[in-house]
Amino acid sequence: MTSKALMNTYGQRALTLVKGEGAYVWDDQGKKYLDALAGIAVCGLGHAHLGVAAAVAAQAATLVHCSNLYNIPAQEALADKLSTLSGMSNMFFSNSGAEANEAAIKIARLHGHAKGIELPTIIVTDQAFHGRTLATLTATGNRKVHAGFEPLVRGFSRAPFNDIDALQVIGENNPNIVAVLVEPIQGEGGVNLPAPDYLQQLRALCDAKGWLLMLDEIQTANGRTGSYFHYQQHNILPDVVTIAKGLGNGVPIGACLTHGPAAQLMQPGNHGSTFGGNPIACAAALATINAIESDNLAQRASELGTQLLQAFKTALADCDKVKDIRGSGLMIGIELSEPCAELVARAADQGLLINVTAANVVRLLPPLIFTDQQAEQLVAILVPLIKAF
Ligand SMILES: Cc1ncc(COP(=O)(O)O)c(C=O)c1O
Repeated sequence: MTSKALMNTYGQRALTLVKGEGAYVWDDQGKKYLDALAGIAVCGLGHAHLGVAAAVAAQAATLVHCSNLYNIPAQEALADKLSTLSGMSNMFFSNSGAEANEAAIKIARLHGHAKGIELPTIIVTDQAFHGRTLATLTATGNRKVHAGFEPLVRGFSRAPFNDIDALQVIGENNPNIVAVLVEPIQGEGGVNLPAPDYLQQLRALCDAKGWLLMLDEIQTANGRTGSYFHYQQHNILPDVVTIAKGLGNGVPIGACLTHGPAAQLMQPGNHGSTFGGNPIACAAALATINAIESDNLAQRASELGTQLLQAFKTALADCDKVKDIRGSGLMIGIELSEPCAELVARAADQGLLINVTAANVVRLLPPLIFTDQQAEQLVAILVPLIKAF
């Protein structure tokens, strides 16, 4: 069923999901699915999490909204919590990932103008995904996302992902560079992991050049890749980091976290949002972070991710169609040698929700609460489907 009143942005949608519990969802026909996608890296705690539901219900019964004209205790508590978790000092709350990145892009421009650069330019990478607003779609490294929306926004320079030398060359030729915006692991681009020392090299290059290192952790953070923020596995601190997706376990909220000089650039009147950081969203995010911490879910993601990668590598070792199996924590990609979007429907037939991105990469982003038995079920359904493809 699709209402004719909806804009056709998502095409024909095959399933109507009406209920969830933990790692399972049910459609309107009563069919049960194992959810290995979690709303695309959103519901890390699984569906209908009682702690989040209680926090949202309590806040809704107290004060849903009041505007950022007033102090919002839940927003302040969330900022303090995220600051302690991240090592970053000042943050802005948005409603989505794209908006968090918009804030980052505006900060980079302020950083440039403060240095007297009139056309501040941000380096972004091929195959990146940063969102669908005009600035973030320009930052996105996928022609399909740009097409039809030209003129694109000025002030971006594109480089290959995972190529420090290319960034150095751009820096030598373009005095307007002020920042690098990059995903530590590309998500929509195909679960692309850079060299292990990439982030450290990026940090060193940005330090040497006076550029802001801006990490888009919208997909990789919130415990998904084995630590609350992915950069924590690389012993660096970015100047700016953006998060969203798993932050509120499905209640829309994003954040742009800053540190050092980047933290002092925004002043009253520069930026704002009606809904960003509102009481309900912040209550949901606080409850989500508390559960991730108290249930040790980042560590669980790391351990289960390692087990799952190994299980897929073993089970698919003799499958010629599989080019690569890679991932970090519970962000896993299985790259096939040909486009494989049809696998999504075949898996759904078998009661499993997965995703295919970059045409030929099966992407798995299960909830962080996945049990060993659910992981075994995932492997047992998916491996034969890939072998038979
Ligand atoms: C890395 C990354 N950045 C930005 C976004 C955009 O986030 P949103 O859809 O919440 O605007 C996404 C969404 O997929 C993403 O994966």
